[in-house]
Amino acid sequence: MLPNMQEAKKRTDKLVDILYDSYKNEKTINNLTYNIKTYGCQMNVRDSEVMAAILEDMGFVPNPELEQSDLVLLNTCSIRENAHNKVFGMLGRLKNQKEHNPNLIVGLAGCMAQEEGVAKDLLAKYKWLDFVIGTHNLHELPKVLNKSLAEKKLNINVWSHEGEVIENLPIKRESNHSAWVNIMYGCDKFCTYCIVPMTRGKQRSRLAKDILNEIESLVKDGYKEVTLLGQNVNAYGKDLKDNDLSFANLLEQIAKTNIPRIRFVTSHPWDFTNEMIDIIAKYPNIMPYIHLPVQAGSNQILKLMGRKYTKQEYLTLFNKLKKAIPNVTISTDIIVGFPGETEADFNETIDLYKECQFDTAFTFLFSPREGTGAAKLKDDTKESVKKERLQSLNKLVSKYALESNLTYLDKTVPVLLTNPSPKNPDVLQGYTDTMKLVNVAAKKEKIGQIIDVKITKAKTWSLDGELI
Ligand code: SAH
Ligand code: SF4
Ligand code: F3S
Repeated sequence: MLPNMQEAKKRTDKLVDILYDSYKNEKTINNLTYNIKTYGCQMNVRDSEVMAAILEDMGFVPNPELEQSDLVLLNTCSIRENAHNKVFGMLGRLKNQKEHNPNLIVGLAGCMAQEEGVAKDLLAKYKWLDFVIGTHNLHELPKVLNKSLAEKKLNINVWSHEGEVIENLPIKRESNHSAWVNIMYGCDKFCTYCIVPMTRGKQRSRLAKDILNEIESLVKDGYKEVTLLGQNVNAYGKDLKDNDLSFANLLEQIAKTNIPRIRFVTSHPWDFTNEMIDIIAKYPNIMPYIHLPVQAGSNQILKLMGRKYTKQEYLTLFNKLKKAIPNVTISTDIIVGFPGETEADFNETIDLYKECQFDTAFTFLFSPREGTGAAKLKDDTKESVKKERLQSLNKLVSKYALESNLTYLDKTVPVLLTNPSPKNPDVLQGYTDTMKLVNVAAKKEKIGQIIDVKITKAKTWSLDGELI
């Protein structure tokens, strides 16, 4: 089954069923190892945790060395051209590896699998691959993999349309302290530059009771933090039958489970309600950090992007959040070089950035994506001009990131220690409630604890601190 982008764009009002027992698996594999390489966003990280558990149910065991694994599964991302390039680069390496070891099994999952153009490319030029599985049918991984092993040929199994919400899939979480929890799948916003509504399908919210059960069992297992995942968490519940549970209600119920830290990504400015702001301000276990992508500072460009808010509306929301939530930090996403962006439009982005002085930002050059509206717009700005704009924006991002971090000097802040620093095993890393990365010399036993740390040094992208 190959993906079809026209089909993937279609939306119906049909309510989505929720299935609780559609995953069945049996052990079919002996003595084989696997390695999953994950690209893209937290959705993919969460999906990789599910696919790891499914593979282990089949009998595979994990292998941290990709080069020595019997199965390599790439969980891919389509968001920009460079995400594609990375995957095609890795496929080149794996082809080589497979020439030396014909028993190597190579699979491709994730958003690229949902792209019609990619599937056609794979069929034409990558026949040596073993299987391709889409984002909507993870529960079918054993079936797809076993079929490709039995037939010894490329098996592509991708659904163009989302299916039901599948509950009770197994999961092997990467962390024992901080967990990803999907609250919804898909996206119906159709921002004109974005491929996600095609690769992830229609918005489907999970039922509150299923989300709460998952979080309550995480609390029992000693987890300190959950991050609620959705492409647009503020729209949670709008697709459910009675439509009477908003994201604000859901957040409040989750806060009452007493999990110490609650985070969520991503919030679209469009659906951010006053009720949500009140709930975030009211509960100390909802972290005072909000990722609020603005994308551009010019109303003309925002309109072309289909973002459905103006610069003024964004600023009003931004200021409301700053006023209502003590210490709140806010980060953003910005696309530079959208088709038709003039120097004046870009300067409006710069002005907005100066006005908001974001704690940090993820900045991207516009990348035309297959099947999106923006890919068809006339774009006559030179690549070199776009790159200069990105550079000057990035200078501002660094400047305000450092300024914000400097305000933490000599302050004592709570940090959830999560892992040893990759640079120094005697140093642990963790995040403040406001999502600042902190390095602190501490014993490994402290991993998983929320500890007060005094900040001794502020750098652009991180803070150093000491235990008190
Ligand atoms: N659902 C999230 C975004 C997910 S994609 C939201 O709406 O905020 C993450 C970011 O990638 C987007 O915020 C956007 O800034 C960027 N992005 C998406 N499509 C892009 C494209 N075609 N070119 C460049 N950047 C893009
Ligand atoms: Fe893409 Fe917009 Fe949906 Fe975010 S809200 S995933 S940017 S279409
Ligand atoms: Fe990439 Fe898909 Fe996430 S396109 S950003 S992995 S939803």
